[in-house]
Amino acid sequence: MRSTPFTFDISLPGGVPTVYDGTDVLIRIVRPLSAMGGQYADQEAYEALLAQGDTILYEVYEMRRPQVADGYIEVADEYIEVADEYIEVTDEYIEVADEHVGLGELLHGTSIVHPGKVGDEYFMTKGHFHSVLDTAEVYYVLQGRGMMVMETPEEEWAVEELRPGRVLYVPPRWAHRSVNTGQEDLVTLFVYPGHAGHDYGTIETRGFRKLVVERDGQPTVVDNPRWRSQE
Ligand code: 6PG
Ligand code: NI
Repeated sequence: MRSTPFTFDISLPGGVPTVYDGTDVLIRIVRPLSAMGGQYADQEAYEALLAQGDTILYEVYEMRRPQVADGYIEVADEYIEVADEYIEVTDEYIEVADEHVGLGELLHGTSIVHPGKVGDEYFMTKGHFHSVLDTAEVYYVLQGRGMMVMETPEEEWAVEELRPGRVLYVPPRWAHRSVNTGQEDLVTLFVYPGHAGHDYGTIETRGFRKLVVERDGQPTVVDNPRWRSQE
């Protein structure tokens, strides 16, 4: 892994960083339809599409930087559980973490959501809270059309439109899911703290409050009939 300054280019259209060469410089994550069980409102349409093949919904290319495994940090070969008040821990602790874990690292890369629908619901990412809830994320839209669906544990929600040139700031505590409402790939550049981690389980269990579906040819935000409140 590089610890000196580096550059890379993002080829457009497409969104694949040009540095990608299959080595450990960059990680490629591929999410097929089968990874989205229970996420789409129309289960029948989901099963029918899956029967035709396990199509790839989206891909993520991420530069390999030091990070923290979900809920744990590695300090001198030992795993220490990260409490909710992680960022309020003592200066000494942060120093240790910084040195060994790269607390100041920024994970970054591109997310490429392909166009398509399951029933009338657009292809989308799984979506997640960050495990360290108090971590934010910045997205810059490079290509395509879409929506970012967001919500907090306090059950606030927001949906923002994504289009080329637009920057979206996802504040700490907000779960986020990108939805491709267009005809081409939705390509975004993302940047977030290296120790953030991913909590996918909460969304897998509860779903998001809002769905983005096609109504009369237009992307429309509707209530998720299967959404479950925390209570
Ligand atoms: C992150 C970012 C982003 C995200 C992708 C895929 O925190 O890693 O939000 O890179 O991972 O858009 O979405 P899922 O992680 O929800 O599958
Ligand atoms: Ni994120």
